[in-house]
Amino acid sequence: VNGDVAVVIGTGGMGRAIGRRIGGGRHLLLADFDQEALASVADTLRGEGHQVTARHVDVGDAESVRELAEAAAALGPVKALAHTAGLSPVQAPPAAVLRVDLLGAALVLEAFAEVVAPGGAAVVIASMAGHLFPPLDPEFERQLATVPAGALLDLPLVAAVTESSAAYGIAKRANLLRVQTAAGPWGARGARVNAISPGVIATPMGQQELDGESGGQMRAMIAMSGTGRIGTPDDIAAAAAFLLGPDATFITGTDLLVDGGVVAAVKVRL
Ligand SMILES: NC(=O)c1ccc[n+]([C@@H]2O[C@H](COP(=O)([O-])OP(=O)(O)OC[C@H]3O[C@@H](n4cnc5c(N)ncnc54)[C@H](O)[C@@H]3O)[C@@H](O)[C@H]2O)c1
Repeated sequence: VNGDVAVVIGTGGMGRAIGRRIGGGRHLLLADFDQEALASVADTLRGEGHQVTARHVDVGDAESVRELAEAAAALGPVKALAHTAGLSPVQAPPAAVLRVDLLGAALVLEAFAEVVAPGGAAVVIASMAGHLFPPLDPEFERQLATVPAGALLDLPLVAAVTESSAAYGIAKRANLLRVQTAAGPWGARGARVNAISPGVIATPMGQQELDGESGGQMRAMIAMSGTGRIGTPDDIAAAAAFLLGPDATFITGTDLLVDGGVVAAVKVRL
């Protein structure tokens, strides 16, 4: 282990695959809300030879996120961060989706901007839902991009959201906007930050979405996509490793759509 720290927030399907991919030779700090799932993934990766520290976090709680960032910095230079914690529309009501997917990602970007090491990089897992959601009012987008994280849930157009699918679409669009905004402060520290927008990925969350009421529509979108298949957690881990690694040092403040061609197919047919 070279002393560098890689942080993976959210140890579900994608978090585990990303941790496995980027953890080698580093101290891997895994964090999740679900203590049991966290312990199990930490054990699995330890069993595979990784040096792992596991820590509870609630990404919707500013104090909890700040403590996680401090704990990461106390382990060594924070060179990589993958933020994968999220709730999908079938998993939770709108307020919970907004708290985790909108506020959570923003709090993580703010807190880790204070501790990331020079040469470090982050990826935030957004979603193709952010690309498929109807255009937002430019003034609303400006607010989503720029207000302090702690003020996001009080924005009138956020507080007015009544459906989980709208909460998810707005949160995931906001993830891209927050990453654009964060590129400046992260750059001032010699660090980079990008988003990845996955399509349908075979994780517990992806499976729940396929089993939910929009499952038929998702299957139809996959069928008409350029690849015609569901994505694997490792498809996302490969993209994360690229964006976090030495081949991406000129890439910051942007988003990589890793959706097997679904958004392209939907846009061509509209
Ligand atoms: N699976 C898909 O098809 C898909 C598609 C597009 C985007 N995404 C996004 O990818 C990310 C990862 O999803 P996944 O498929 O690995 O899902 P997953 O459900 O397997 O993992 C998500 C993890 O986030 C954790 N989490 C939830 N609330 C939290 C909180 N408050 N604090 C800390 N951790 C919390 C959960 O405990 C879980 O371990 C999410 O942001 C999701 O929205 C998933």
